[in-house]
Amino acid sequence: MSSPSFSAVTTTTPNSNTTHVLAFPFPAQGHMLPFLDFIHQLALKGLNITIIVTPKNLPIINQLHSTHPNSIHTLVLPFPLHPKLPLGIENVKDIGNFGIPPIIASLSKLEGEVIQWFQSHPSPPRAIIYDFFFGYTQLWAKTLNIPTITFCTSGAFSTCFFQRLMTNMNEFRNLDAVQMQDIPRCPSFHKDQYPSLFEKYKEDDSDWQIIKECILTNPKSWCYVVNSFYDLEGEYIDQLKIDLGHDRVFSVGPLTSSLGVNKRVNPDSDVGYGVLKWLDKCPDESVLYVCFGSQKLLTQPQIEALALGLERSKTRFVWVVKVEGSQWVPQGFEERVSDQGLVIKGWAPQVEILNHEAIGGFVSHCGWNSILESVLAGVMVLAWPMEADQFQNAKLVVEYAGLAFRLCEGEHTVPDSNELARIIDKSMSISENVPQKENVKVMRQKALEARNVGGSSLTDLNELVKELSQNVASNSNT
Ligand code: UDX
Repeated sequence: MSSPSFSAVTTTTPNSNTTHVLAFPFPAQGHMLPFLDFIHQLALKGLNITIIVTPKNLPIINQLHSTHPNSIHTLVLPFPLHPKLPLGIENVKDIGNFGIPPIIASLSKLEGEVIQWFQSHPSPPRAIIYDFFFGYTQLWAKTLNIPTITFCTSGAFSTCFFQRLMTNMNEFRNLDAVQMQDIPRCPSFHKDQYPSLFEKYKEDDSDWQIIKECILTNPKSWCYVVNSFYDLEGEYIDQLKIDLGHDRVFSVGPLTSSLGVNKRVNPDSDVGYGVLKWLDKCPDESVLYVCFGSQKLLTQPQIEALALGLERSKTRFVWVVKVEGSQWVPQGFEERVSDQGLVIKGWAPQVEILNHEAIGGFVSHCGWNSILESVLAGVMVLAWPMEADQFQNAKLVVEYAGLAFRLCEGEHTVPDSNELARIIDKSMSISENVPQKENVKVMRQKALEARNVGGSSLTDLNELVKELSQNVASNSNT
């Protein structure tokens, strides 16, 4: 239930001469970080942006806000209560993926407050940019008679795939595998590799019905913004345009913190910087970085198998371990590998680590942000997809783009340590000819070019800003 009192706070009032847009990020780190990077880009282009945020997520915006004190504003609204969410939970990082459906459902209740704020604003926004999970924002926009922009935190390939699954849910849910003949390269996936929100969908749960409705509504938005770029995903960016029936798909990526502000530093702590000093002492491309995103916790048997695999590979490593309760790496492991590797508990400065010359490979769950960050750092990935869009991302980088190896697969899989050691040793060895290493360096160059003057991503970003500033307000939403 939403709080009855209207307690919105805007920190500053946007200048009435510039284009003002409203932004609604989804409160999970893997979503907020690229969303805020995008907002940063819009602010650099002179737009005024008001971000809808609940109190506990405000610190995540601080850095961006202090970089653009005159053009970034916040609309702080109390987090609406939900029976499945303990009081005080406002971000997926505090509850795990289980919290995604209730958080999406809960935030739908901000509608009345947002509309009231908008209608009393002296210079209201002319469009709403919302996270892919918040399709219901389109109803708000309809009431306000302004267009919507869907921001996809996943890549174009996985977005195409997920949208088709959700649109044809009854047909696909009964199949053990699916092959999509009408998407380039006819990708096929076993049901264990389906996106979690499709696989876990519960027909009789109203939170899940809201999610489904959101995904089905997204194609009605005025445009899509995708954190991707043509040289990596051109055929799927084009496919999205075909699927949507118009050309308004702006691929503006890779958006990452190397663009400027908004470092991926945990607002709660900045542990982990000692690792950069440790890396300074290691030879170029000799270290394997191991991290499974912002929220994935490995099980104890997985931690043990990975520990043994790393040790046996004799490869230098930095391993970011996110743990719960009494979970930890095997006893004696840290002492045994003290010359070989570092274990970081909690949060690491991932982008800075990946861009260190000592890093030569990245064991990743293939979260889309991690994939883009590895590309921008020119670091090959050893893929262990687990859930969400990660199987689609892994297929893209392993099979289609040749930027990665497959190391392991599955949320519950406990890998064989010897096999891990073998793959790690082979791929990290300087004496081996590893085409993935070269390919990712070439892709890095293309990513940088995409963001440069004349590049596809900067051109799309400029086009979008132009549309927002000049034309969008006169267009209808659908
Ligand atoms: C989730 C999904 O799992 C992912 O597949 C989807 O595309 C986005 O939402 P997450 O699992 O957190 O994201 O992975 P990822 O997309 O890789 O994003 C993690 C972000 O947190 C990256 O930007 C990474 O640099 C940052 N991070 C993570 C750190 O900076 N330090 C850490 O210790 C862990």
